[in-house]
Order: sequence, then structure tokens, then C-alpha cells
Amino acid sequence: MTTPVHDVLIVGGGGAGLRAAIAVAEEQPDLSVAVVSKVYPMRSHTVSAEGGAAAVIKPDDAAQHHCYDTISGADWLADQDAVEAFVAEAPGELIQLEHWGCPWSRDPDGSVAVRPFGGMKIQRTWFAADKTGFHMLHTLFQTAQRYRPVTRYDEWFVFDLLVHDGRCQGVAALELKTGALRVIPARSVILCTGGAGRIFPFTTNAAIKNGDGMALAYRAGVALKDMEFVQYHPTGLPGKGILITEAARGEGGVLVNRHGRRYLEDYDLGQPLDVGDPRHPQLRSMELGPRDRLSQAFYWEQEKGHTFEGEFGAYVHLDVRHLGQKKIDKKIPFVRQTALNYMGVDCVHECIPVRPVVHYMMGGVHTDIHGATSLPGLFAAGECACVSINGANRLGSNSLTELLVFGRRAGLAAARFARGHGPVAADVLEKKAEEETRRIVSLHTQGAPGADSLATIRSELNAALEHGAGIYRQADRLAAACEKIRELKERLGRLKVLDRSRTFNTQLVAALEAQFLLDAAEAVAFSAAARRESRGSHQRLDYKERDDERYLKHTLAFRTDGDPRLEYLDVVITKWPPGARVYGKQ
Ligand code: FUM
Repeated sequence: MTTPVHDVLIVGGGGAGLRAAIAVAEEQPDLSVAVVSKVYPMRSHTVSAEGGAAAVIKPDDAAQHHCYDTISGADWLADQDAVEAFVAEAPGELIQLEHWGCPWSRDPDGSVAVRPFGGMKIQRTWFAADKTGFHMLHTLFQTAQRYRPVTRYDEWFVFDLLVHDGRCQGVAALELKTGALRVIPARSVILCTGGAGRIFPFTTNAAIKNGDGMALAYRAGVALKDMEFVQYHPTGLPGKGILITEAARGEGGVLVNRHGRRYLEDYDLGQPLDVGDPRHPQLRSMELGPRDRLSQAFYWEQEKGHTFEGEFGAYVHLDVRHLGQKKIDKKIPFVRQTALNYMGVDCVHECIPVRPVVHYMMGGVHTDIHGATSLPGLFAAGECACVSINGANRLGSNSLTELLVFGRRAGLAAARFARGHGPVAADVLEKKAEEETRRIVSLHTQGAPGADSLATIRSELNAALEHGAGIYRQADRLAAACEKIRELKERLGRLKVLDRSRTFNTQLVAALEAQFLLDAAEAVAFSAAARRESRGSHQRLDYKERDDERYLKHTLAFRTDGDPRLEYLDVVITKWPPGARVYGKQ
């Protein structure tokens, strides 16, 4: 039932988790490090990232430009000390990845190629065609395999953090193949479980992204920070939610409404149409405005009746036909393949139907710039954490780099913590895990069969969040979303899990994931209701302006037996005082 004690245990086998594992194995080789993941690591969601990873590399770029783009893109809610650390370490991380085998695309002279990305005034997005996440994850996975101290527990579902003596000392997990309940004791634990996009109906996020790590930390008393900031990516496939990468626009694709009009011309994207660096004419493109502004423009086009209407609601067209087959096949082959496979559209000849879909949570587990949380021994990195470098709106291509920079930092910080702390109380942990196990077993005995269903609970949650905490928000809709979440928590608490099988009991796992989802959704809706201003991805129809006086602050949501308790924390400003978000010249 209990595994050996590990010095560092990482929950999640995606980019952040594997980078953390490699950092420990390489830089502290005498420590034992383990990765526990509910899926085989190569199935982690990092694999589906497409467009690229940002870092300063070209001679016309500089750290202060990357910092400024990130901070203004974040609508000044990013902590500037974290952004500076991120930008400084980003190039080293991407070069390191190359040395481990990542096939970055090249310019004809052999140097690393970069492409334009939304909100970045200078081209700094490294890419591997449009399968960047796939190549990065492969590289990290094969590199992690080289190190003997890295143990893997694949397809183990972590359902609880084991806290004893005021510190996190391991996790309780369900081994999916056998149904056995396992205790993994550890001197330190890092959560790298990704985001929680599945609280919304249309999302680029894989079915595994249910806010697991966020909920685990939240239940252990750690705050979830800035959860109201949810990023809609402007170009997902209607119904499916599958991502059509921003690279398609970076390479020159344009968005048009049902009248064939390039409608972004009619909106303030913070980017004057006549401003751009003449060396990089692509940056004049309004399609490369920041994601929050592009998604908001779609909302207004829909309000005006300028969008197409389809089986899954409103959509617009992404047109890349003018790029020609040669460029499409070289630079964005996966876009062509995806549109063909899922929509039956060959983008060489036809436009791709797209709509904004939830893509990324700017918020997450509140950490410092080393990934440490307020619970000793517990760390977090990647999308499940909020350091914060993304503030109110993340710029595309910062997240792949973020998971490397802060995955490594968290790995090293956890290793330092492990060295300073004695053996864990394995017998006490087993007792705690048994208590949690009783809670899980009770899911089979409570409630009445057929009274409610997980599918209904999830779809009601999705609808409540999309309506209440979508691209635009207002008090009454947010209040309705909060009320619905209260109701769904209560209903989920009575739901009976009928399947008692031990091998890959997906119904049981889905019930546990739904509990995680509701925790994450609660933090999103209540934090959004309390922020009475508009900033980045959090746009309120009833409070239209940014209000630095009252809200240049991070929201911290703490779990209670009732509604979450909210506190606020000052944003760290180092060199860039709050200003208007302008994507022209500085
Ligand atoms: O569009 C994209 O390729 C997404 C990139 C990102 O979210 O960083």
C-alpha cells in the first residue's frame, strides 16, 4: 500500500513536472525524485501545445521588451519581479531544450527561427513547426528517462495531499489499473497538474484538465490566486474546442465575419493599425492583438449579428488561403490536418470556422517565485500555479517557457526543502490515507441510484460558467453562477457512484474530478463577482474601467465550509508603473 519515501514527489507528468524532475535529478543527483501522473506522461496536455515558446534570442530584441510586453499584456497584474526572473532565464531554458534534442525550426542561415505572436511587439516565439508542445514534451520525457533517481507512477490518480505536523508529507493515490489505494510519502511535493479549462463547455483543454492540483492545494488551506482571469483563445473549432494555433495568424491568417469583413479593423485592440516595426511587417496585423481583446471583439460581432450561426452557435472565419499551400504545409501543417480531420475543411482552399474557446487559467495555486506555497513542503509550477507572470491576460507562447523556468525553479526549491526536513511519518500518513479512502468508498453507498448524474452536473456547471463568467460578466449573472455552484456541490455530495469495479473505474475517477472542478469553479466565480472592475480577460459590463486604486491587487481565495473567503495582495511593481495597454511603439 505504501511506496518508498521520496525526497521530491511531483504530481503531474507534463512539461512543468518533467522539467522539475530533471532539475532535481541533474542538480541534486543523490535525492530520490518521483513523478506520479494520472495519464502516461506523453499524454499530458503539454503535448497539444502548438504555436511556440517565447524567449529573447534575436539581436533586435532585449529583455526589457519581453518584460514590458508581458506586463502590459497582463494589464499590470503580473508581479514584475517574477516577470524579470522569467525573461532572464527563458533563453537559457530553450537553448537547454535544444541541447536535449528539441528540433526548433530554423531560418535559412541556420539560426533559430522565431515567429510573431499576439501582443509581442518583437518576434520572439521559437517554434517546432506547429507541434511545439509535442516536441518539447518528447524532449523532456526522453531526457527524464536518462536519470536513474526518477521513479514514475503512471496512471495513478492523486486524490489527496497528506499533511501532518504542519507540512505536506506526500499524497494518497488510486492506482487505476488495480484500484489499489496507495500512499506515496515524500519530504516535498510539487503540483504540476495543469489548468481547469473543463469547467467551461468549449475549451482547448484535454478531458484530464479538471483543476486537480488547484483543488488539492485549496483543500489543504492554500489560497488560489487570481482565479477570475480565464483566457479565451480566439480561434478554437466550434463544438470541439480544438485549438487552431495563433501561429496561423502569426503567419498571416486573417479573421473575417459573415459579411467577409476583416472586422478587427472596427475595434480598439490597443494596437494602432498604422504602427509596427517596419522590419517586421507582420506585426502590423491586427490579428496579432492580445487574446482577450480579440475574444471580446468576437462577442461584439455576435451581438451585432455579424457572425455565422452553426450547430454549435456563433462563429467567424479564419482565412489562411492567401498563404498558399507551400507555406501552410511548411509552417502550419497541423492546422491543415486538424481542420481537415475535424471540420472537413481544407484550409488551402476554404476558410476555417472558429470561435473563442477557453484555453488557459491565468490564476492558480498561490506561490512565490520559487514555486513555494504557504504550506511548508508544498510547491506548484506550470498552469496550475500562479507565480504570477500572466496577471490578467497571458501572452501566447509565454506558457511553454513558463513551465520550463518555473518547473526547474520549483524542482530546486523542493529539493532544498527536502534536504532540510527529516523523515516523514509514514504510519501517520497511512492512517490519514485510510480516512480519505473511507470518503471515496462512501461515494458507492451514499444517495440513491439514478437520482442525478455526473454528466448533468458537469453540463449545468459548464453552462453556468459560460453564461456567468464568460468573455463578458456582470453582477446578476455572476451571482447566478455562484448560486448554481453551491447547488451543484450539494448535489455532487449526494451522487452515488454505481460502478464498483476496481480496474480503470472511470466513473469513480470522474466523480472525484468533478469535485475538483467544482472547487476550481467556485474560486473563479466568487473571485470574479468580487472584482468590480474590467482588467484583461475579466471584463464587466457593469464596471467597464480598470480601477487601479482599488484593484491593482491579486485576489486570494481560501476554501471554507461555505463560500470562499477572499483576501487581496499587492502586486509587485519593480520598473514599469501601470499605464495604458498599447501595443504600438513604447
Ligand atoms: O495558439 C497557440 O499556439 C497557443 C499558444 C499558447 O497558448 O501559448
